[in-house]
Amino acid sequence: SNVTVQPPLTAIPADLRTLADYEKRAEMHMTPDVWRHVQEGAGRGITLAENRAAFDRIGFLPRAMADLDGDTGIELLGRHHAAPILLAPLAYQRLVHAEGELACARAATALDTGMIVSTLSSIPLEDIAAAAHALARDLGKKPAPLWFQLYLQPDREHSLQLVRRAEDAGYEAIVLTVDAALKPAGITLPPGVDAVNLAGMPRPRQTSVPGGKILLGTPLAQSAPGWEDLAWLRGVTRLPILVKGLLLGDDAARAVDEGADALIISNHGGRVLDGLPSPVELIQNVAESTAGRIPLLLDGGVRMGTDVVKAIALGASAVLIGRPQMHALAVAGLPGMAHMIHLMRTELEAAMAQLGCPTCALLGPDRLVALSR
Ligand code: FNR
Repeated sequence: SNVTVQPPLTAIPADLRTLADYEKRAEMHMTPDVWRHVQEGAGRGITLAENRAAFDRIGFLPRAMADLDGDTGIELLGRHHAAPILLAPLAYQRLVHAEGELACARAATALDTGMIVSTLSSIPLEDIAAAAHALARDLGKKPAPLWFQLYLQPDREHSLQLVRRAEDAGYEAIVLTVDAALKPAGITLPPGVDAVNLAGMPRPRQTSVPGGKILLGTPLAQSAPGWEDLAWLRGVTRLPILVKGLLLGDDAARAVDEGADALIISNHGGRVLDGLPSPVELIQNVAESTAGRIPLLLDGGVRMGTDVVKAIALGASAVLIGRPQMHALAVAGLPGMAHMIHLMRTELEAAMAQLGCPTCALLGPDRLVALSR
């Protein structure tokens, strides 16, 4: 088709005031294929919609005239974070902007925001870390936390190489994603966008099976991550390990027993199994099962400062932002990413102040009420 893709803006227009504004604008800065790939949910999109709806069913109980002496900062895995908001791992950020993960890493550094780099990044993981560290040096500050998201490779030696490369490049944690092994590759990559970290390794597994054959028992299903892989990872690295993609309390408790240092409660943004409930619905159950032994993060549908407040009040230590990164990058590259993070942070501050809650630690379920919608 001859749809024109708008180039990224070089200045931020005044009418971009929320993440929803970025999302609306982003469609004209992507090819239709890329737009569909970024936005899509699995199946009929029930889980994708539920990730938003679950937030929207929660309301607030504010305290009037409260003492507002505090800030949004948190401690997580030995590091201070200016706000409980991190950038989720997203494959192939060069699909939407030539600078891809580099723009992301620089914006994250400028705003002291943690970033999780995907195994499927379209810039080498070393170059992303180097860009973040160089900018931190220029700005005279400590680099923001950078974590590496690991997709296990069919050959353990290759998984180990990725872990070692991440350690050598200065990544501070490994995020093991366990929920996407059987997810079909969503898009045909255009020239110049590739899984560069996996050069020389067998291509990422394709899951489409000719003739609609059932996958169970095939080599594909057998190479999905298992508990023994978590034990293996625990044995080969001293970095903190986060497990991403758990939803249930007993799985969470087992992951803690097996040496996970934190968990990311996630349904992969509604992209894998349609019909899963939202992490927001499940986190209190997970928190009960893990009884404060480790921090819990969550993602899926976080689009406003009030969403962050709700997640923290339900027991999350922090949240991750997924698709809005792609929207902001497509619309305006590095300044767009920085602006998007800034919007989330200022919305979070406003929401905490309006709720009468000066710190994340003071946010609890007593501040929430179910809305009948
Ligand atoms: C993802 N996600 C993802 N997760 C992961 O562990 N590794 C990856 O490479 C990717 N890649 C990826 C690409 C795209 C285009 C999307 C939209 C998502 C999942 C991601 O980390 C996160 O869990 C969700 O995006 C969170 O939901 P929201 O914020 O997009 O609603």
